[in-house]
Amino acid sequence: MITIENVSKSFVLHNQGAAEIPVMQGASLTVAAGECAALVGASGAGKSTLMRMIYGNYLTASGRILVGDVDVATAAPREIIQLRRYTLGYVSQFLRVVPRVSTLDVVAEPLRATGTSRADAIATAQELLARLNIPERLWSLSPTTFSGGEQQRVNIARGFAYPYPALLLDEPTASLDPTNRATVLEMIREAKLRGAAIIGIFHDHAARDAICDHQFDVTRYTPGLAA
Ligand SMILES: Nc1ncnc2c1ncn2[C@@H]1O[C@H](COP(=O)(O)OP(=O)(O)O)[C@@H](O)[C@H]1O
Ligand SMILES: [Mg+2]
Repeated sequence: MITIENVSKSFVLHNQGAAEIPVMQGASLTVAAGECAALVGASGAGKSTLMRMIYGNYLTASGRILVGDVDVATAAPREIIQLRRYTLGYVSQFLRVVPRVSTLDVVAEPLRATGTSRADAIATAQELLARLNIPERLWSLSPTTFSGGEQQRVNIARGFAYPYPALLLDEPTASLDPTNRATVLEMIREAKLRGAAIIGIFHDHAARDAICDHQFDVTRYTPGLAA
């Protein structure tokens, strides 16, 4: 479902004399439907960078990043928009939302974008928010003022509202208490069972070992860090 072939990336620091910093060289990885791969490696090795490249937030210098039959490395912007709508979900580390949109609408939005009726999308959002223990009195408020753990759970609810065939998860259990952590791990297991291909970053090693089928050490492809 997700195939990364010989991918390289450097950052050009335009405000520092256009210095070119290579951060990844020759990375390759395959994740089949129903599998979870964990990105591991030291801080700064390029885990989040690789995830942003797969999502099309960062340009890829060379190589291929296939998600289904779309090569993200060369896809046109409108193909990326379609891919994000129907195929590839991304739970980023921090929730970014438009102010004044209610939590229910934030969570329902990916379903609305794929043609689900408002009533059905809101019903699914309610189920997810209840499952993740977001108090009902908060549902009509914007999540901008929520605590870190509440925002993270809203972000997870949103990322799991639509059944994407591929999912990227950046530290999905980082600021959760044990009960909510267990719920999120159960949701990831369910996504695998319905056939989602998942790539995750987990500092929570117990969670990673419980959920992931493979580990992919990004350090092997980090110039200057590789053995
Ligand atoms: N937008 C950017 N511009 C310049 N350098 C960046 C940018 N994003 C990440 N980097 C650099 O790329 C390297 C990998 O970062 P990152 O992917 O965040 O690491 P990890 O998630 O593994 O901790 C780091 O050296 C970081 O400073
Ligand atoms: Mg990171």
